[in-house]
Amino acid sequence: MRSRDGIRPLFVRLFALMLAALITHLLPQTSFAEGPAEIVCIQCHSGMPEKYSQPVKLWRGSIHAENGIACNSCHGGDPKDAANAMKPERGFLGAPKEPAIPAFCGRCHIGVMNDYLASAHGRALGKGGPTCVTCHGNHQVLKATLELINEKSCSRCHSFDRARMIRDAMQQTDGMITTAETRIIAFKKVGSDTEKLEKELFALRNRFHSLFHNVNVEMVNKESARIQADLKKIQSVLATWDDTGRKRKIAGAAALSLMLLVALLAHLLRKTFDET
Ligand code: HEC
Ligand code: HEC
Ligand code: HEC
Ligand code: HEC
Ligand code: HEC
Repeated sequence: MRSRDGIRPLFVRLFALMLAALITHLLPQTSFAEGPAEIVCIQCHSGMPEKYSQPVKLWRGSIHAENGIACNSCHGGDPKDAANAMKPERGFLGAPKEPAIPAFCGRCHIGVMNDYLASAHGRALGKGGPTCVTCHGNHQVLKATLELINEKSCSRCHSFDRARMIRDAMQQTDGMITTAETRIIAFKKVGSDTEKLEKELFALRNRFHSLFHNVNVEMVNKESARIQADLKKIQSVLATWDDTGRKRKIAGAAALSLMLLVALLAHLLRKTFDET
């Protein structure tokens, strides 16, 4: 009897502990997932006609929504006070007109904006050149890839020829980076010290992905060649790792066979002794 009485409070305490752990584990996630839905911008706009509710739907699947960049991060305003949400005194900026878009997005993407402004596209801003939203969209902005350089999008204003040259020049390097990334992850999984290589590749990746907005074929070709030369150094390190890995495997197999042989000899020896 006494032991059962002792066990019951223990169970209760354990259960309470587990519940507490579960709640603290779930709480921050729930509040994060529900956070943006609580802002008044989304509450009010969701119930409005197409033109004003569409941005909410498009934004939901975007890389910005994923990273906590909500309506007010871009448009300003007060996301907690429905009555004054869109007052300029609360920092509301409204919707930018076309020539103001690069600066609007460029608050957070400064490097990209500067490359863009210096490019043939930036120089044609307001005179038929594309802005950030021409290529990326305004609310449904997705992770950027070379897929954005396609005939449908890039031949709206000029022929696809130069766009294709940029894409071809970038695709090969893009592939080399992806392959190197996959291989480094594989080495990391088996316990190799990949930190230095990871850092080098990360820097190269960033250098490479800051090339596009210049839309300068010559520059893309030159810089891609330099990046490829650096990527080849990473590839050769990976190749030596492949080699040592292979040698280690052979050495391992040899050691194993030797041990088996010794075991067999010992067994035979003991058998001979037993028989005598
Ligand atoms: C109580 C309802 C309500 C709330 C809250 C609200 N809006 Fe609006 N919003 C509207 C209405 C109505 C319009 C269209 C009429 C107008 O422009 O005032 C509008 C228009 C807009 C426009 C287009 C303006 C333009 O110049 O075309 C933007 C951008 C916008 N809202 C963003 C926001 C943001 C960001 C928030 C939160 C900080 C927000 N709204 C909160 C009702 C609301
Ligand atoms: C990444 C920045 C960004 C975010 C986040 C964002 N917007 Fe916008 N929004 C823009 C830009 C840029 C424009 C102007 C678009 C254009 O001209 O193509 C715009 C335009 C609008 C307009 C005017 C549409 C029209 O047709 O006149 C409304 C309304 C609006 N946004 C509401 C919202 C609401 C509501 C949210 C949150 C769910 C939101 N926006 C989130 C960048 C953003
Ligand atoms: C308030 C800051 C902010 C504003 C304004 C903003 N962004 Fe972003 N953007 C971010 C953050 C944060 C991310 C996610 C992290 C990252 O990839 O840099 C992001 C990601 C992106 C990506 C994906 C990057 C990738 O790695 O593939 C694109 C493309 C992009 N934004 C375009 C835009 C465009 C176009 C506008 C204007 C309509 C805009 N952004 C306005 C903060 C902002
Ligand atoms: C002519 C089309 C076009 C225009 C205009 C454009 N972009 Fe891009 N953007 C792209 C393409 C294509 C990529 C992918 C490049 C790559 O994979 O290296 C990209 C990549 C990006 C990235 C990801 C960069 C990274 O490091 O991975 C961001 C952020 C971005 N753009 C923001 C912007 C902003 C902000 C503007 C306006 C100032 C803008 N873009 C104008 C086509 C465009
Ligand atoms: C909204 C119109 C528009 C769109 C869309 C557009 N461009 Fe352009 N592009 C221009 C204008 C304007 C120029 C400058 C005049 C010229 O050289 O034709 C230009 C010039 C260029 C140049 C030459 C740059 C130089 O320095 O000689 C390249 C390369 C280019 N664009 C690539 C692209 C790519 C890639 C895309 C698709 C991701 C694209 N463009 C989409 C309008 C556009």
